[in-house]
This record gives sequence, structure tokens and C-alpha cells, in this order.
Amino acid sequence: MTRRAVVIGAGHYLPERIVENAEFEATLETSDEWIRSRSGIERRHFAAEGETTSQMATRAAEAALKSAGRTAEDVDAIVLATSTADLTFPSAATMVQSQLGMTKGFAFDVQAVCAGFVYALSNANALIASGQADRVLVIGAETFSRIMDWSDRSTCVLFGDGAGALLLEAQEGAGTPEDRGILATDLNSDGRYKDLLYVDGGVSTQSTGHLRMQGNQVFRHAVEKLASTATTALERAGASTDDVDWIVPHQANIRIIQGTAKKMGLPMDKVVVTVQDHGNTSAASIPLALSVGVERGQIKPGNLIVTEAIGGGLAWGAVVLRW
Ligand code: UT7
Repeated sequence: MTRRAVVIGAGHYLPERIVENAEFEATLETSDEWIRSRSGIERRHFAAEGETTSQMATRAAEAALKSAGRTAEDVDAIVLATSTADLTFPSAATMVQSQLGMTKGFAFDVQAVCAGFVYALSNANALIASGQADRVLVIGAETFSRIMDWSDRSTCVLFGDGAGALLLEAQEGAGTPEDRGILATDLNSDGRYKDLLYVDGGVSTQSTGHLRMQGNQVFRHAVEKLASTATTALERAGASTDDVDWIVPHQANIRIIQGTAKKMGLPMDKVVVTVQDHGNTSAASIPLALSVGVERGQIKPGNLIVTEAIGGGLAWGAVVLRW
């Protein structure tokens, strides 16, 4: 028998304010047509003034717990992927822990930018597989609107805010690819590419900073690295692309999503796409897409799912799981 981390609940939260592409036309030399055709993005949500990453994460966690029919009492650990925590410390995860009313267990943040949720899932899987936790809330939550340079049209039109969460539970599997739960993970990073996507500020440089990106350079790495990590994770899971029911990719750009699916030999009707409505929500994009995919009736129990993401670092990776 093999201890598996099985998804038993999913939920998400999106801030109320929706900003359509056309809104940017008032302040920037840009157009709805450019944003739509180059990225696939049509609109995004922005957090309200004073609304924080941990608050959004808590709403998503509550929705995941509700969908699983569980309460915060049942949770042993929280792993929260974010690059936009409320404060330098403590972690946003401990803030979620207190907002959920949890008085036991442990909580920590994972920072791998847009690949953060894949890293967090991999960490949570290890906690469950090693017997350190039976139930883990894995959350991706971001307020990227706080680190935008609103005069930089090449970045500020691409990102959005939001949160998504999964509740994982330890269950016994047979040790085959037919098991429910996380079947394999693959993580990578290459710091030589740190200048392609970064924030030009931080604690030790005494500023908050703004996101800077050489978009077309990141794009060049994305399709190849994403298809490669997804294929590696599938091989590790003992599965092939023929077995895949859904790719749930990081939602940065529809052209990257299409290119990756094509390279893997999978049609777009096997891909969950939310980039048009959410923009790029960094570590929140995969759990948001998973939760929306369930809500739409796309993702069903027993489905084989591949998630893959790439972002600042560069850091990238994939997780194969059976829903
Ligand atoms: O999630 C983390 C990982 N990040 C990503 O995956 C993002 C990867 N990159 C991308 O998604 C794309 O590279 C972008 C959407 C950022 C840009 O698309 P692109 O096809 O690579 O365009 P580009 O950067 O090569 O720019 C083409 C032109 C430039 O003008 P010139 O130099 O050709 O005259 C830009 O200045 O488009 C211009 N441009 C804009 N025009 C109108 C850049 N941003 C805008 C804009 N509106 N908002």
C-alpha cells in the first residue's frame, strides 16, 4: 500500500472589482485588441484597498473546507504559495491559520513565484507521504496589483489578484497510476535566468519594488520547459499523455498554454483555460483554474490531471494527480 495525498476539496476567491482591458486604454498606449491577441487576457480582478493576500487565502480555504465537508479543526498543516504576503513576516500562512480559528498544526509560506503552487503541492505531498500530516490545506494567493508599475504597459495589463485552495487528505492507494491523489511531481529552477522576471525591491534593499519582466524572453523558455516538466512528471507517475484527462496549466498567456498542449500532443479541449477572466494571478492561477474547472463540470473524480507552471527564478515544475 502507498500513502497518497488525495484532493478532497477545492475552493477559490476572487476580489469583487473586475477590470476590463479597455480600462487601460485611458492611461496607457495600449488596446483591448493588443492585450487579447498577445496574451488571451480579457479582464482580471483587483483586490480592494486594504484587502490582503491572507484574507483572500482564507476565503479560498474556507470554500475548500466547505466543499470537503471538513472544518479547520481537521487540518494539520497549511502550505501557502505566495510572493505577495501581507507582511515581511510572519508568513501569510500563519495569518490564515489564525483567521480560520486553528490553534494546532503548523503553517508556512512557499515562494516560487508563478511556480509556487506546484512547489507547494509537492511540499504538501511530501508531508503527507512521510506521515507528518494527514490533512493539508494547500493555497495559492496573490495581490500582484500591489507590485505593478502602472506606467509599464508591457507588464501591468497582464496580472490579476485572487486565491485558490485544495484540501489534501492521506489515503491508502495501491501504488499504481490508477490511485487517486498526487502520483508524481517534478521541480526545477535555474537562477541564471533571475533577471528575466523579478521585483526590483525587497527587504534587504529597503523597498517594495515593482515587477520587471522581459516577457518575450520568458516566453521563449516557457513552452519547452513546461512541456518537458509535464512529460517528466507523467513518466514518473507511470502514465502517458494518452491517459491525461486535463492539463491545468499556469494561466499566463493563451499562446503559451496552446503551445505547450501542442508540444505534448494534446488538444485544447483537454485544457482548463481561465486566463481570459483572471489574467496572470501567479501562484493562485492553478488552484483557481482547478476550482473553476470543478465548478464548470470539467474536472470529475477519477480524472488524470497534469498541472504545470513557470515563473521568476526561473522556477518551473509539474504535478500529476488523479482527482
Ligand atoms: O507567469 C510568469 C511567466 N510569465 C509569462 O509567462 C509571460 C511570458 N510572456 C508573454 O506572455 C508575452 O511575451 C507578452 C504578452 C508579455 C508580450 O507578448 P510578445 O508577443 O512577446 O510581445 P513583445 O514583448 O515582443 O512586444 C511586442 C511589441 C513591442 O513593441 P515593439 O518593440 O515591437 O515596437 C512592445 O513595446 O508590443 C509592445 N507592447 C505593447 N503594445 C500595446 C508591449 N506591451 C504592450 C501593450 N499594448 N500592453
